[in-house]
Amino acid sequence: MNKKWWKESVVYQIYPRSFQDSNGDGIGDIRGIISRLDYLKELGIDVVWLSPVYESPNDDNGYDISNYEAIMDEFGTMEDWEEMLQEMHNRGIKLMMDLVVNHTSDEHAWFVESRKSKDNPYRDYYVWRPAKDGKEPNNWESAFSGSTWEYDEETEEYFLHIFSKKQPDLNWENPKVRKEVYQMMKFWLDKGIDGFRMDVINFISKVDGLPDAENPEGKRYVSGHDYFMNGPRIHEYLQEMHQEVLSQYDIITVGEMPGVTPDQGILYTDEDRKELNMVFQFEHMDLDTQPGLNKWHLKPLYLPDLKDTMTKWQKGMEGKGWNSLYWNNHDQPRIVSRFGDDGEYRVRSAKMLAACLHMMQGTPYIYQGEEIGMTNVRFKDISDYKDIETLNMYNEKTADAEAEPEKIMHSIYTKGRDNARTPVQWDNSEHAGFTTGTPWIAVNPNYTNINAQQALHDQDSVFHFYRKLIQLRKENDIIVYGTYDLLLRDHEQIFAYTRTLGNETLLVITNFSSETPVFKLPEQIAYRSKEILISNYNADPEENMEYFTMKPWEARVYRLFS
Ligand code: NOJ
Repeated sequence: MNKKWWKESVVYQIYPRSFQDSNGDGIGDIRGIISRLDYLKELGIDVVWLSPVYESPNDDNGYDISNYEAIMDEFGTMEDWEEMLQEMHNRGIKLMMDLVVNHTSDEHAWFVESRKSKDNPYRDYYVWRPAKDGKEPNNWESAFSGSTWEYDEETEEYFLHIFSKKQPDLNWENPKVRKEVYQMMKFWLDKGIDGFRMDVINFISKVDGLPDAENPEGKRYVSGHDYFMNGPRIHEYLQEMHQEVLSQYDIITVGEMPGVTPDQGILYTDEDRKELNMVFQFEHMDLDTQPGLNKWHLKPLYLPDLKDTMTKWQKGMEGKGWNSLYWNNHDQPRIVSRFGDDGEYRVRSAKMLAACLHMMQGTPYIYQGEEIGMTNVRFKDISDYKDIETLNMYNEKTADAEAEPEKIMHSIYTKGRDNARTPVQWDNSEHAGFTTGTPWIAVNPNYTNINAQQALHDQDSVFHFYRKLIQLRKENDIIVYGTYDLLLRDHEQIFAYTRTLGNETLLVITNFSSETPVFKLPEQIAYRSKEILISNYNADPEENMEYFTMKPWEARVYRLFS
């Protein structure tokens, strides 16, 4: 396997609005980030993925960009940003910026021009269509509820927006659009950044003719996923981007790709095809959703499903592509509340989840707060929620006379994106040390117990466990490059697997429950000696590990030599 620095790195995601405020306006900012770089250095991460900091009217918290080459006022200035980059590099930390080019803001200069007239030179930068039978051009449903089409009175046509109506989709069919994007990417790369995380990048090519999606139940709007995910020209565009831009720099690239399968994942990440380094897939994030329905339709996780999905990706990409590994990001609920136990076993289960993920093959991503075991939040009042996806869903659902508000709130508590967006809990002072002002979204009230200051002082904290996992990855090639094999596929509590490289084997045993199941080592695993690499209960190294009763949410990683 080809060795690469980005395979050996651990990435930490910063969602700047919620990370650290420096000027008391209640909004995280770039100088706040600078003030916390030593903390990240101590954690040991190699790369920061910074969610968008570009100029934006913030309909979707910066994922609606009005100027790709300017910094959002609330976050600071270009000088602040340059200082931040320098300070990261001084500490040996690389910077991966967010690239959001499926859509812009409707306040971007291109769109302002585009909507003026049908013959404006920027008209074809976006996707405009006339009405069909007096209605929207097709029946696709927006990711944020309602139609993907918005009527514009000025020119009496509709424009396409897969996300909010303030996020019009760019028309990648237009070579001028692609050229502008490539130039903009070079603008940042030439400033010295180290890579891009590409927002819904597998949405940029749409099926010709933008046909109606199948609609057997006769709904008003239906998911148009099959018509814009992994579309007909996607590989052509990414190869062109590689040729024009990416190939000229030694960088890390990751494509956010809802709806991608391992076979497609290989097409995107096979090094010979010259597209991207890795993708964010979502299959493991869909396992607590009822099949065929949107994320708000809940279902408990069945552990064998998670094992099957993770294994499918581990084996599917082995030797052919490269995985990214994540439990959290700014769009997902907190993992310890989701697949762990955020009550009695919060610390144990947060560590178990970390070990289970970080021992797999791929580049691990840690989302801010995950390293201290931050949990989901339950705000009583819908007015405390800020996320457009949550609010649009709430408004749409409650407009229905038969709506059950409690059920809707339960879905929001379980799946809402604001779970990930409450401010980072730095200490137990007011607003968790995030701001001296009023935070744009309330702090999770559990900050008095769960905060970074406490975690740094406690050698048994989740923070120090993550630090150790990162360290182990740097010291053990097997964690990066070893092959993966699942054990005990059908077990409903235990997730166990091995990694193998040469005469070494890692044995990872994790308990996804508050129960005490018995682990029995399958016979095929032969070894002469063993040692414990890491565990979350200080397991006795001499204990028989071929047959033992696991403690609630226990995790053990052994290194075996044959
Ligand atoms: C994916 C981003 O992660 C999410 O936060 C955003 O709302 C959509 N793409 C649209 O940009």
